[in-house]
Amino acid sequence: MATIGDKYLLGSGRSDQDRLRAISAIHDGRTRELLRKAGFISGHRFVEFGCGLGYVTRWAASEGAHATGIDLNEDHLAVATELAPLDLRTLDLARTRA
Ligand SMILES: C[S@@+](CC[C@H](N)C(=O)[O-])C[C@H]1O[C@@H](n2cnc3c(N)ncnc32)[C@H](O)[C@@H]1O
Repeated sequence: MATIGDKYLLGSGRSDQDRLRAISAIHDGRTRELLRKAGFISGHRFVEFGCGLGYVTRWAASEGAHATGIDLNEDHLAVATELAPLDLRTLDLARTRA
């Protein structure tokens, strides 16, 4: 399944999920730092659009946020659910109007 533009393709298979794990390992420390600088506070509502395997959403929940992860890829969300129970929703944001 092609999900982002025509140059960056991310599918549902194991190698694609390994890519998400690698991305998470590289970026999550910086992501957390940015979220804290942006005002992330325990107890607030937190929504991650395009949550993939849910690493950032899981971190936000562990920090006390009411965290929700949204992704169009049900296979990613199934893996995310296996890692820990989370509030996850399947939604194609490209088909959603504000
Ligand atoms: C590069 S991954 C990032 C995953 C996660 N945010 C992270 O930091 O590890 C991008 C995610 O956005 C999701 N995505 C792409 N297009 C989407 C759309 N139109 N609606 C919902 N999710 C989408 C993909 O399925 C993928 O899991």
